[in-house]
Amino acid sequence: MDLEPTRNLALELVRVTEAAALAAGRFMGRGDKEAADAAAVGAMRLVLNTIQMNAIIVIGEGEKDNAPMLFNGERVGTGFGPEMDIAVDPIDGTRPLAFGNLNSISTVALAPRGTMFDPGPFVYMNKIAVGPEARGKIDIDAPLADNLKAIAHASGKSVEDLTAVILDRPRHNELIAEVRRCGARIRQIPDGDVAGALMTAWPDAGIDVLLGIGGTPEGVLAACALRAMGGEIMGKLFARNEDEMKRGQQMGYDFDKVLTMQDLVSSEDVFFAATGITDGELLESVKYMREGARTDSLVVRGLTGTVRQITATHRWDKLKTLNAIHY
Ligand code: FBP
Repeated sequence: MDLEPTRNLALELVRVTEAAALAAGRFMGRGDKEAADAAAVGAMRLVLNTIQMNAIIVIGEGEKDNAPMLFNGERVGTGFGPEMDIAVDPIDGTRPLAFGNLNSISTVALAPRGTMFDPGPFVYMNKIAVGPEARGKIDIDAPLADNLKAIAHASGKSVEDLTAVILDRPRHNELIAEVRRCGARIRQIPDGDVAGALMTAWPDAGIDVLLGIGGTPEGVLAACALRAMGGEIMGKLFARNEDEMKRGQQMGYDFDKVLTMQDLVSSEDVFFAATGITDGELLESVKYMREGARTDSLVVRGLTGTVRQITATHRWDKLKTLNAIHY
């Protein structure tokens, strides 16, 4: 075989998440979620539109973020090159960023056109995600105890050795009680379940499983990342009330259907990038220095499974002459 390596769009995507993180990081602890989001969205969009691709946003800025750009259906990229679906979350963890807490990241994923799940207006999804060792061993419909036993068995541990990451929300009180009854440990996170899902595939993070209800956009982004990193995620849309359930059914969504990783992103040819905005188990925060800043990113390509960690040093004197992003 004499195949030449093909273009790795993830290496271009990282410039997108770096730009968003550099712009958003300025707002750490300033208590202004909207301003942080607007800065991240603006920077992200500017760099996205330099990438040679014809991409349609499938997962964009939702109602929750109140943002006028990067909305679902918007076309980004130069308009030439491969036809792609794109999922963006300029800031996953706007609250932790606004209040100077952990695990706020900027993320983007790309996959061939028509391969990403479109959750429509439905904001929540029940999820279970694991790293490569437990891939193929989980079942979102199975009792929690069975899933934990299967994960423990697959990773050569006991259930007591496992750590589950769960969003700290009242809706998870029963789930948390059940995990405790099973004997596993829990890491509750205030926000940021994309990072939570990624941690399951990141040996240094010490997380074995992500459990619970979080955002659907974050579920699709996590699916892209875990597909590329060899892990697994399964989900089920979660309706907040009867009205939402009825609306979903009218639109053809099935809240009982198990969304496998294949349903969430059906191509292996997926690209994912994330840059830390505040510090976390996965990525370091943006560090501002006298002449520039340093960013810490993760870049993954599904076809090869290569995971790159990229530390970049950015120089204001040069960047400011090249683009309009306000760093
Ligand atoms: P945003 O930064 O976009 O607000 O998302 C943060 C987040 O914690 C996600 O990681 C998670 O999926 C979702 O919010 C959970 O939603 P909620 O805060 O409504 O429980």
